[in-house]
Amino acid sequence: MNLIVAVDQNWAIGKGGDQLVYISADLKRFKALTTGHPVILGRKTLATFPGGRPLKGRRNLILSRNPDFAPEGAEVFSNLDALLAAAPEDSFVIGGASVYRALLDRCDTAYVTRIHQSFSGADCWFPNLNQQPGWHIAEESPVQEEQEIYFRYVTYRKG
Ligand SMILES: NC(=O)c1ccc[n+]([C@@H]2O[C@H](COP(=O)([O-])OP(=O)(O)OC[C@H]3O[C@@H](n4cnc5c(N)ncnc54)[C@H](OP(=O)(O)O)[C@@H]3O)[C@@H](O)[C@H]2O)c1
Repeated sequence: MNLIVAVDQNWAIGKGGDQLVYISADLKRFKALTTGHPVILGRKTLATFPGGRPLKGRRNLILSRNPDFAPEGAEVFSNLDALLAAAPEDSFVIGGASVYRALLDRCDTAYVTRIHQSFSGADCWFPNLNQQPGWHIAEESPVQEEQEIYFRYVTYRKG
């Protein structure tokens, strides 16, 4: 299983229920990598998408304990076992913090956008993969820049 995440220098990933920053090149890359594959996400991350709607061109596997939550065009699972039984190996875990934490051990490839800045007010984080046993850097892009935000794409693999 894969995961994809954008982190700042402190491995922060969000604040106030939203992303830290939107980088259009990174969003395009996210779309290119995930289209055609199922995406796995938490109910709160779905709420950050335009109109709270699932992503197009992908099966959207959503975790929520609310039995009445049934967004059109998505599949909702009330626990991890049910989700894992339905999730193919080529799925991408796309957040948020609680879902990354729950499924990190199931993943063997992590596409991490490392943003070279720290954002004040961040309130959720991803585990620092440089300190996670078993994970190593497999590929690293040159530094990119968009509207004075510097970042690079780092692919981590486990094992
Ligand atoms: N930087 C990035 O790449 C990135 C990517 C994605 C998200 N984010 C950020 O991450 C933050 C959201 O993360 P979050 O941890 O607060 O929320 P989240 O993981 O997106 O969603 C949490 C919700 O998912 C459901 N859930 C989680 N684990 C479950 C389980 N084991 N079984 C059943 N349901 C489960 C619950 O929904 P119910 O409450 O409905 O039961 C829970 O309240 C936002 O700031 C967002 O912008 C950042």
